[in-house]
Amino acid sequence: MRRTLIAGNWKMNGSLESIGELMDGIKAGLAEVTNADMAVCPPAIYLMKVKSHIGDAAIGLGSQNICDQESGAFTGELAPAMLKEAGCKYAIIGHSERRSLYGESDDLVARRFAMAVASGVTPILCIGETLEERESGVTEQVVSRQLDAVIDTQGIDAIGQCVIAYEPVWAIGTGKTASPEQAQAVHAFIRSKLAALSVDVADKVQILYGGSMNAANAAELLSQPDIDGGLIGGASLKAADFLAIGKAA
Ligand code: 13P
Repeated sequence: MRRTLIAGNWKMNGSLESIGELMDGIKAGLAEVTNADMAVCPPAIYLMKVKSHIGDAAIGLGSQNICDQESGAFTGELAPAMLKEAGCKYAIIGHSERRSLYGESDDLVARRFAMAVASGVTPILCIGETLEERESGVTEQVVSRQLDAVIDTQGIDAIGQCVIAYEPVWAIGTGKTASPEQAQAVHAFIRSKLAALSVDVADKVQILYGGSMNAANAAELLSQPDIDGGLIGGASLKAADFLAIGKAA
């Protein structure tokens, strides 16, 4: 049985004050979330602060990126060992905002992925199509290409060590959620693609949905057989909403 994971991607939001309030709120209601693991991915500058807020609460910590190199002259990047030291369990990799706004290619995403796995940080590998790609009927080709960039270089077993997040770009931050059927169809496609290479990996890998998931639509999305959790943007910035998604699992 795959466990449900609800991870909050705070993106570039928050302040020292607001993250303290948010973490207090999440911790206060955590006991009511019984069927899901919870994780938060704050901006890098707050990782260590959030780790201290987490204390011994059962909340995973994740970064929003990870460098494809171990250390050295890579201005602005985050070394895997630094993330480990800060207490990160997860690193989001290949988010569509990194791909589209900062030009991250499939190859770079695959290299970041490799470094995360090698360092013992679990990648949350984001894939998903744009509206134009969906309307041209190439959704499956796009997610296949994004997955193949990792599988071809790292092998299928590496996928068994990651979490996949299917995030249709047209649903991110737009309030337009993929319908449960639309999301399930792509999740099932991803799982069947993996199963063709390894049934074991396909069975165990958690595939999260991301894109305007909120307290109102979470239960229906999470009830789909191949949706194993959510990567939550906007709704993860309010403790009550984030917890409600966890409770919907
Ligand atoms: P929203 O939940 O704000 O649509 O963001 C989703 C997302 O991009 C999570 O990584």
